[in-house]
Amino acid sequence: MSKQQSKEKVVLAYSGGLDTSVCVKWLQEEKNLDVIAVLGDVGQEHDGLEAIKEKAFSLGVIACEVVDMRDEFCANYVVPALAANALYENKYPLVSALSRPLIAQHLVHAAHVHGASYVAHGCTGKGNDQVRFELSIMTLDPHLSVIAPVREWDLGMRPDEIAYAVAHGVPVEASIEKPYSIDDNLWGRAIEAGALEDPWAAPPSDIWTMTTAAEDAPDAATSVVIGFEHGVPVSLNGHAMELAELIVNLNTLAGSNGFGRIDMIENRCVGLKSRECYEAPGALALIQAHKALEDLCLEASVLHAKLELEQTWAGLVYAGQWFSPLKQALDAFMHETQQHVTGEVRLKFYKGSCTVSGRRSSSSLYDQKLATYDNDEAFDQTDAMGFINISSLPLKTWAAAQGSQANTPSLSVSKKHASGSGVNSVCAVAPELVSDEEPALLKAAC
Ligand code: ARG
Repeated sequence: MSKQQSKEKVVLAYSGGLDTSVCVKWLQEEKNLDVIAVLGDVGQEHDGLEAIKEKAFSLGVIACEVVDMRDEFCANYVVPALAANALYENKYPLVSALSRPLIAQHLVHAAHVHGASYVAHGCTGKGNDQVRFELSIMTLDPHLSVIAPVREWDLGMRPDEIAYAVAHGVPVEASIEKPYSIDDNLWGRAIEAGALEDPWAAPPSDIWTMTTAAEDAPDAATSVVIGFEHGVPVSLNGHAMELAELIVNLNTLAGSNGFGRIDMIENRCVGLKSRECYEAPGALALIQAHKALEDLCLEASVLHAKLELEQTWAGLVYAGQWFSPLKQALDAFMHETQQHVTGEVRLKFYKGSCTVSGRRSSSSLYDQKLATYDNDEAFDQTDAMGFINISSLPLKTWAAAQGSQANTPSLSVSKKHASGSGVNSVCAVAPELVSDEEPALLKAAC
């Protein structure tokens, strides 16, 4: 056996960018490992997967697996995320958080195939992606060891990394000019760092590639009908479509109407706040449409319980707990709820907005005969009296025990806070709170 063959192996999540290219050299030089690159296609923009593969080989990897993960991404990651209407902190559709566990699955698989005992990624120690990769890898195979070169190496600043790259024959190309950290896939695109680090600075227009600025979007509205079967989008305007294709089409349609931008301050797993911009036109439109269909098809208490569990689901996935037992149990709940979420939703896009303009379903629980204000034979309004009597009983008992005046706020208006005639700014507060000396208290009471 030659010396070369006896080296230990590491499987690296490779993107073709500067960081992961330097990682290849670093793992070879500093750790004396043979590197197997795994490159996942999750629908991101790229300059050609073959070119990236060639680059990996030019850096001396012993193997490079290019894996088309798009269908798996849709079926196993996007579908459950949509079932959970997943929005971290009510805003972010988990774009990067969804791809990491899938890539981790393929890293672990490659490690088994190639007999590697190490897995490596190019994430920094400040981000969420390291957490997602590592928790996933550790859950899938606790015997593998993870190496995070960027966290370990002392190439702290970009110029040092570039100097290392140049010294080791790693092409640096345009990387020096790139001011942002970008990660994208079918479900959207994340943009961070550079000028965005100042939360007051408006996002420079050149960060956006999937969406038109609302003011430049067409003056006429565009409507689209999305068909769902058991919670899964299956058609656009009546044309049956694979989910990946449907998302790509909707990204174009919604994005060209200026819809799908997010600019937020986000709480990262590692405890810091960061300013993030995202574009996710298709994802946000599908979540909106899906929620509208659920409003029609889910029984009220299921819908209400689901709304709470959706937050938990998104929080777990954001924090890298994709393969955790709690996340899997919640998936079972979400899946069960989707049984009757079949029907169509019409969305209207107009200059940056997306509104639901219609929904219908063969499993609809909406009953016009019950809801109508016209002729209400189906609903006996006198029943409401008994309902109110019974449901108010604990409140009446409690109020009586407090004494008659204690719970009755007067309708005073603080002069300081009243605007104009005061008609629109009536704020019911207890008289003892109405004081010019206590504006904060008053505000809180309002
Ligand atoms: N903050 C986002 C998240 O945690 C985006 C991460 C993007 N990753 C990147 N390498 N730029 O999901």
